[in-house]
Amino acid sequence: MTDSKSSWDRYWAKGSAAALPLSDNEQRQLGQFWQAQLLQNTPKAMTSAVELAAGAGDLTAQLMSFFGLYRPEPVLHAVDSSAQALHQLQARFERIQPLQCDLAAVTLADHSQQLVVSQFGIEYGGEAGFREAGRMVAVDGVLLLLVHHSDSEIFRQCARNNRMIRFMQDEQFFTKVSHWFRVAQHDSAATESEMAAARNALMQALQHAQRLLQQIGPVSRQIRQFYQDCAELAAKVRSYQLSELLDWLERMQTELVDSQQRGEAMQQVAMDYQQLDALCRAQWHPWQLQYHIEPFELAGKTLGWFVKGNKKPA
Ligand SMILES: C[S@@+](CC[C@H](N)C(=O)[O-])C[C@H]1O[C@@H](n2cnc3c(N)ncnc32)[C@H](O)[C@@H]1O
Repeated sequence: MTDSKSSWDRYWAKGSAAALPLSDNEQRQLGQFWQAQLLQNTPKAMTSAVELAAGAGDLTAQLMSFFGLYRPEPVLHAVDSSAQALHQLQARFERIQPLQCDLAAVTLADHSQQLVVSQFGIEYGGEAGFREAGRMVAVDGVLLLLVHHSDSEIFRQCARNNRMIRFMQDEQFFTKVSHWFRVAQHDSAATESEMAAARNALMQALQHAQRLLQQIGPVSRQIRQFYQDCAELAAKVRSYQLSELLDWLERMQTELVDSQQRGEAMQQVAMDYQQLDALCRAQWHPWQLQYHIEPFELAGKTLGWFVKGNKKPA
């Protein structure tokens, strides 16, 4: 697995439920958006559908609720490279057919799906992911995608988070925290001046972190919490067991570096209109899939691109 695929797998293994940095209100509006699009665009009779890069089921929940309108209900294949995501998904929705594979090589037949959908996922499969999506759409079938936008609120939030985590790595923040934990707990034979040096190094790093936080604007709750916990633990270090502190720090470091990998992968796959249009044209022309692209906005904020496609009979 690539780094970003395995970091997604670890993310879903923790039981994480959401992949997007959205408020509860935005999440509700996103659900309403999908219900409206499904109602307007899906065929009257539908038996087969596929969701690409389903994750832990944000969009799957919308699809399952919408499919309740059909008799019989369509079969939904849920594709993802993460076994952990699919495991969670199947625990939530017994009726789905999980398909663990890469977006670049999906094992469903040409023209076999009356509905092909993805929410901020297909772009992780690159050109081949777009080709596969277009290939699977049935004649008279529909394709509905939300795709990352290179000038969206989600992109900017990701960029801020990544900048903060990169700063922590460059500052050797994690090393400074663990060094202070050890020295302050008399785990080493540190002299008074070595203790003062360890403390000062950490205090300086915390001050730089605070300045950067103020300068770059809102970052994820996880990063803010980590910074606050470090500042608090630096002062109360003797109230905890050293082994507990070091375990916590190692866990946080893994989580933050994983989230940086996912964030960087997201920044790499996000596109502007020209890039997305060129990609859709090149990959879908051979499959005679017609498409339309528009910005996807919620409450006046651009969050991505909405791509709608359909395959007419030749
Ligand atoms: C941003 S998450 C989106 C998940 C879900 N659609 C949602 O909106 O919550 C991207 C998903 O794509 C999956 N993924 C990333 N690269 C992939 C690849 N090359 N093939 C299959 N799945 C991939 C990850 O495991 C993850 O679940």
